[in-house]
Amino acid sequence: MDIHAHRLLILDFGSQYTQLIARKVRELGVYCEILPWDMPVDELVAFAPRGVILSGGPESTTLADAPRIPDAVLQMKVPMLGICYGMQSMAAQLGGQVGAEQEREFGHAEVRVGEGSTLLGGLTDHIDANRLDVWMSHGDRVQAAPPGFQVVASTEHVPIIAIEDAERRWFGIQFHPEVTHTRQGLEILRRFSMEVCGCEALWTADGIIDDQIRRVREQVGDAEVLLGLSGGVDSSVVAALLHEAIGDQLTCVFVDTGLLRYQEGDQVMRTFAQHMGVKVIRVNAAEKYFAALDGVDDPETKRKIIGGLFVEIFEQEAAKLRDVQFLAQGTIYPDVIESAGARTGKAHVIKSHHNVGGLPEHMKLSLVEPLRELFKDEVRRLGNALGLPHEMIHRHPFPGPGLGVRVLGAVSADVVSVLQKADHIFIQELRASGWYERTSQAFAVFLPVKSVGVVGDARAYEPVIALRAVETIDFMTAGWAELPYSLLGKVSLRIVNEVRGVSRVVYDITGKPPATIEWE
Ligand code: XMP
Repeated sequence: MDIHAHRLLILDFGSQYTQLIARKVRELGVYCEILPWDMPVDELVAFAPRGVILSGGPESTTLADAPRIPDAVLQMKVPMLGICYGMQSMAAQLGGQVGAEQEREFGHAEVRVGEGSTLLGGLTDHIDANRLDVWMSHGDRVQAAPPGFQVVASTEHVPIIAIEDAERRWFGIQFHPEVTHTRQGLEILRRFSMEVCGCEALWTADGIIDDQIRRVREQVGDAEVLLGLSGGVDSSVVAALLHEAIGDQLTCVFVDTGLLRYQEGDQVMRTFAQHMGVKVIRVNAAEKYFAALDGVDDPETKRKIIGGLFVEIFEQEAAKLRDVQFLAQGTIYPDVIESAGARTGKAHVIKSHHNVGGLPEHMKLSLVEPLRELFKDEVRRLGNALGLPHEMIHRHPFPGPGLGVRVLGAVSADVVSVLQKADHIFIQELRASGWYERTSQAFAVFLPVKSVGVVGDARAYEPVIALRAVETIDFMTAGWAELPYSLLGKVSLRIVNEVRGVSRVVYDITGKPPATIEWE
């Protein structure tokens, strides 16, 4: 059966949690897509979901031009679950009442569930049945349920926390089932998706792989496909997937800029070329990069040089491959949602910026994007199912310009080599202590300022290495990781002892904002 056959629509009202709802539903094995509430209605109807989840949102239904559920969606006559703003819009549009309250409710709350609730009945976090721990975040609230709806849950302060219309199978909950603080949240989403809407768990890693293999084969036939392999998670999974789908019709070009992590280039070749038998052309471009970057210390100029050179080299290699008609890319679902949001002018997230410059359009290749439907965690699961090494698919993100922006000021082969070794020690110790998984991104930075040290009996006057480790969900804001002193001490000692040319190690304790994660 088509793995997309049982699907849900997540109608987006702009909540910061919308993607989380989708990820949780997918985790249950149910395919869903996020579409903005103001999308052309024929597209919403054509999606033909088995049920609709209305997301939360930052607006108030009490305002005249508030986002609303399109009539066409109400007329689909499929089950509907309104979350927070989604519940309020149901109430406001179906004849109930919504109002603003003096105090906003934010954080943990205890919900009492009444008798006979299809969605919430029998779930409990307490000895006392019918009490749930949930997570709230709202200003407005439903003051009167619409006709046909029953009030099925309340809190001490709020009489209407959940409503349902058993006949139409429409439900509204004021709290957020998608966040982990709502302990029964996943179960609530499961009941809605699977019991109420009748979706089966067709969306599995193996199912997705088989489906993509079939679709890629259909799309490319016996044509040749080119992929820029970077060693990052997304392009690696694309390579593994396309190799399964079309074998030798795939050629990967891996531009080794010399600005990658310690021995990363060799590792990419080992995994793909040697172990998996993927056709990979490695271009050793380090010398070219160092020559182009010689003496350049302005960060933006460095980024432009690195990005421009990549396109130039990639194009040269592509031109050597005569019959290529397709270019594969590791675009993932959040990129797709963001650009859809940008198109309808409803992107509430600031776009995550600065990529190394795409490939020029004159290459005239059609795109193959097998990860377009997937969230990052799904991409990782696919990578795992395709046999990629754990280390490769659970790696911290790495910026396109690589170590070029982690050596402050002018870049040279020598300082990059010092930085690679220091960074490698830091990462090794993070892994050994279990802190690698607990940080979102961690790396070393080369500071071209000299400081005095003593090595043996001699006085040294050498550069500084800064360590950076952050915890973040979206990389838009981040906190510095409170690594144990003992760990930092060990890393520092190893770096000054094992890496020649470093006399001092410091730890960056600045959050974002005000600082950025990278130093340049
Ligand atoms: P900042 O330094 O802006 O970084 O706080 C946020 C996230 O973006 C990554 N980053 C980049 N990624 N090209 C990229 O592909 C770049 O030029 C670039 N600059 C920063 C950074 O590593 C962090 O994850």
